[in-house]
Amino acid sequence: MSLLFSPLTLRGLRLKNRLAMSPMCQYSATAEGQVTDWHLLHYPTRALGGVGLVLVEATAVLPEGRISPLDLGIWSEDHLPGLKELARRIREAGAVPGIQLAHAGRKAGTTPPWEGGKPLGWRVVGPSPLPFAEGYPVPEALDEAGMERVLEAFVQGARRALRAGFQVVELHMAHGYLLSSFLSPLSNGRTDAYGGSLENRMRFPLRVAQAVREALPPELPLLVRVSATDWAEGGWGLSDTLAFAERLKALGVDLLDCSSGGVVPGVRVPAAPGFQVPFADAVRKRVGLATGAVGLITEAFQAETLLQAGSADLVLLGRVLLRDPYFPLRAAKALGVPAEVPPQYQRGF
Ligand SMILES: Cc1cc2nc3c(=O)[nH]c(=O)nc-3n(C[C@H](O)[C@H](O)[C@H](O)COP(=O)(O)O)c2cc1C
Repeated sequence: MSLLFSPLTLRGLRLKNRLAMSPMCQYSATAEGQVTDWHLLHYPTRALGGVGLVLVEATAVLPEGRISPLDLGIWSEDHLPGLKELARRIREAGAVPGIQLAHAGRKAGTTPPWEGGKPLGWRVVGPSPLPFAEGYPVPEALDEAGMERVLEAFVQGARRALRAGFQVVELHMAHGYLLSSFLSPLSNGRTDAYGGSLENRMRFPLRVAQAVREALPPELPLLVRVSATDWAEGGWGLSDTLAFAERLKALGVDLLDCSSGGVVPGVRVPAAPGFQVPFADAVRKRVGLATGAVGLITEAFQAETLLQAGSADLVLLGRVLLRDPYFPLRAAKALGVPAEVPPQYQRGF
């Protein structure tokens, strides 16, 4: 029996299978962070392609927390109508709509990748006045009031996401963005209660997770994405991730989406098929928290096998879905599972 195409229940929410679309910035919102026709075509197409869950890209909870000026936003009531339409269309196309809430911290304000991903010189914030890399702005270290404002923005973002019809919220705590930069000793040089020891570095991200969890109804799940390792000497690593996962689990986080890197530049990432799966595996088996595996998972059998091995509960697909929105329908066929092919497409599969 295929695990990949068996349902996954998280709290009161049922996903029809264990394939999710990984959040991927489209750099296609308006300058005010509004949904455009691009999003309304791009996401529902992947939903038609058969994933059980669509996680909409990193969506900024504050305007200064956008990775680029063309990120989606959720910091204002004005964003609601567009997000509502997006969630509705994803659901209509057969997937559960989810959204990743983000603040880019010291990595905010860059051009889209096709324009080089260069810093635009925005005023950025972070745990400490340590720039991401040469040419990046020196972040203003958040004080207690600044952190409170960010926390409140995540809570408001989660509330808006629910009102828009999203049923899954993922907190972006990976890739060196704001919450991730609090976790790593390489980006957090604070000497107060939010820096230094592992306990202190986890404090603010845990507070955000707790506040957002409390803002969600008990029947809907909360996901967190982490960088399970910085891939750097003296940085965050798997043992830290395991400790963090324990704490997130105790707060009621339902699934840890295990990515890696992005915290410091110039590291060597041993990218190979499924290279981040061991992180999901370790968290799932050693902490007993559900996990998502992501990164170079491009084959149906590969995805099925990692689930059968108990390495993860959910498989997140990124670039393969940019290449082929219908990957899940083809994967079902390859695994001999009767796929839910829309009748209009049946002659194609
Ligand atoms: C164009 C693009 C945009 C991305 N944007 C995000 C994002 O918004 N949030 C995030 O957590 N990861 C983001 N990622 C990382 C993907 O979600 C995924 O983790 C990564 O691409 C590895 O999976 P893959 O090998 O299946 O592509 C992005 C990746 C790509 C290629």
